Amino acid sequence: MLKIGILGAGAIGGVLAAALDQNRINARLVALADQDVERARALSARLACHPPVMSIDEMIEHSELAVEAASQAALPDFVPRALARGRDMLIMSVGGLLGREEWFRQAAEKNCRIYVPSGAIAGLDGVKSASVGRLESAVLTSRKPVAALRGSQYVVEKGLALESFTEETVIFDGLAEEAARAFPATSNVAASLRLAVGSSIPVRVRIVAVPGGNQNIHEIQVQGEFGRLRVTVENVPSKDNPRTSQLAAYSAIATLAGLTGSLRVGT
Ligand SMILES: NC(=O)c1ccc[n+]([C@@H]2O[C@H](COP(=O)([O-])OP(=O)(O)OC[C@H]3O[C@@H](n4cnc5c(N)ncnc54)[C@H](O)[C@@H]3O)[C@@H](O)[C@H]2O)c1
Repeated sequence: MLKIGILGAGAIGGVLAAALDQNRINARLVALADQDVERARALSARLACHPPVMSIDEMIEHSELAVEAASQAALPDFVPRALARGRDMLIMSVGGLLGREEWFRQAAEKNCRIYVPSGAIAGLDGVKSASVGRLESAVLTSRKPVAALRGSQYVVEKGLALESFTEETVIFDGLAEEAARAFPATSNVAASLRLAVGSSIPVRVRIVAVPGGNQNIHEIQVQGEFGRLRVTVENVPSKDNPRTSQLAAYSAIATLAGLTGSLRVGT
């Protein structure tokens, strides 16, 4: 059985670890790592398989596939170590992969695979198929509750008075690369779309602050030779981390289940 280690014992890591523990994936959880060692120990104690808590290095050493469910800031500690050991990876903090073409080159040299689940969006299967032909435009519109945007570096730097908004307000309109930098905790979806589209056209991202409500709503619109695609996901937030959508953890589970199962559906 595929040996899996997880970096990050938070909302996504916890749900993924529980799915492995309940044998919902044909793989074995062999190690946990987290900068908050107590959090990782508490997660391990809740699981029947009691995976050992290790350093990032040891966790990678013990795994065949290492999952990152920590933060964009963790990637420079995680990816080069996994590459050095030739391990496959599943990355949730996708924004941290943008501009890191050297990691993709090294992965190809080492024959490592980097898996990027769909996370909190849907439709990447269709976007990838569409990008085989000529694309004309790709736009992501993310509607986020004010509460989820509060404290973002961009909001603080721009001095945006989110609490004074009485209606939906576009607070960011720019390239996916800029969105991933401006909102590192919330713009992984922009980065996932960027990677799925490829480099032929820019990906435009609009972030809309919504007073009240608690849903992150992502809409993708892509147009090209194939026709037009429009996909909207109205996400329910994770109970452990309101900035994270429940679907994101499920997408990690579905990706691992797809890797270890005999049937693959979708592009
Ligand atoms: N791809 C997507 O669509 C998508 C969707 C939601 C969340 N995410 C991303 O997935 C990641 C995990 O999300 P979450 O909701 O589980 O977060 P979380 O805050 O609930 O848990 C993250 C855990 O990782 C640990 N951690 C953070 N940085 C670390 C580091 N540098 N080294 C070691 N441990 C570290 C924290 O201590 C925490 O226990 C985040 O980066 C989040 O932005 C991606």
